[in-house]
Amino acid sequence: MLNNKLYIKTWGCQMNEYDSSKIADLMQKELNCKITDSIENANIIILNTCSIREKAQEKLFHQLGRWKKFKKLDPNIIIGVGGCVAAQEGKRILNRANHVDIIFGPQTLHRIPMMINKVRKFKKYLIDISFPKIEKFNYFPLPQKKNISEFISIIEGCNKYCTYCIVPYTRGKEISRPYQDIISEIKILSMQGVREVHLLGQNVNAYKYVDLQGKIYSFSVLLKMISKIKNIKRIRFTTSHPQNFSDELIETYKKLPQLVSFVHLPVQSGSNKILSLMKRRYNIIEYKNIINKLKNIRPNIQISSDFIVGFPGETKNDFYKTISLILDINFDMSFSFIYSPRPGTPASRLNNNNISEYEKKQRLYILQYYIKQQTKKFSKKMLNTIQTILVEGISPQNKQFFYGRTENNRVVFFQNKYNYIGKLVNIKITAFYLYSLHGKFISISNN
Ligand code: 5AD
Ligand code: SF4
Repeated sequence: MLNNKLYIKTWGCQMNEYDSSKIADLMQKELNCKITDSIENANIIILNTCSIREKAQEKLFHQLGRWKKFKKLDPNIIIGVGGCVAAQEGKRILNRANHVDIIFGPQTLHRIPMMINKVRKFKKYLIDISFPKIEKFNYFPLPQKKNISEFISIIEGCNKYCTYCIVPYTRGKEISRPYQDIISEIKILSMQGVREVHLLGQNVNAYKYVDLQGKIYSFSVLLKMISKIKNIKRIRFTTSHPQNFSDELIETYKKLPQLVSFVHLPVQSGSNKILSLMKRRYNIIEYKNIINKLKNIRPNIQISSDFIVGFPGETKNDFYKTISLILDINFDMSFSFIYSPRPGTPASRLNNNNISEYEKKQRLYILQYYIKQQTKKFSKKMLNTIQTILVEGISPQNKQFFYGRTENNRVVFFQNKYNYIGKLVNIKITAFYLYSLHGKFISISNN
């Protein structure tokens, strides 16, 4: 068998990172691939792309241009392009980069080994960017623990069609994985030593699985089932949508101590006018109601968000409504972006000339300034407190330190005689930086 060496480059979200790790697992199993960090050693090169913002196509062709030399040196090298730009552009990629051999989409990555075999046999490129009904999971090998905390995809695609967003077109319609598959995957991981699961999806709280008897399994029901799995000490999830943040889900925060007191709940804008143009399906009062109800149950819960500035029609007044919401909710570390028109989306047809590029950059700068101040405030408040962290490993930068995460996702470094990797421990915070902390080991947590 050929000595296959695979190099994967991943752009974009956690979902893409997850897909890439599944591609790696699959290629090891099916094509006996070794994974390499050095592209010069690889005979299979895969680029997993993202098209959510910026000049995604240009970035792709630049990258492929730089890789042309590898194909020239060795024509047997396979170059594959996947992810959202591949789903969007399909065959058009070959017009500008005919050295590409395979093009696959987010729902066809399980077919990569078969596509590679065919390309090698018939010496002709292959394209498969179809949306088969969530079959890829049936092809992935059994999950293998790589970290104490592991990502698990529970739902694929999105039906929300926010007017600015390309995801529903590139990742397809919302499909929930059968709950039995998710539970058995987590049980296997837990037996291997995984102690935290991070549930993934474009819209995790839209999770809805209907079994053959017609019984509905909602996201809250799924969370309850996961919380019963032995040794799963923490549950995180991203991303959720305010429209699906039901009272039933809020109530689970009362019942499930494993659910961390940290929620990423993208609001995008503080202006009802902009939210309506974005077709976000909620207004600011409704958003605040969710947060208030969560805070009633968990007074210390922290909220992070995504924001878009410079959406077509956003006036200074709309923008300051976003700033005022930031101060009001007291968001912790968040992500923020300048609106980028995505080809084919409804918002791309709106007049986008009412705000200068300079003004957009300034709005982003101001927004990020406020978020940074609040992030710092949260970190500072943790100084001298005792925080429970899940120990994840030894710091790669300094082997004398262990590291773990607080519930609000800050990395904490600490020294200790004993190795408590995989355990919840209490740490007294002795120093803070913007996103990380240093601390002193106090005790093992009883949780
Ligand atoms: N322009 C800017 N930001 C975008 N996002 C999604 N689409 C766009 C776009 N066209 C942001 C949203 C979303 C996050 C994942 O990316 O804030 O929540
Ligand atoms: Fe895009 Fe909106 Fe779906 Fe999120 S909810 S993936 S922003 S369409």
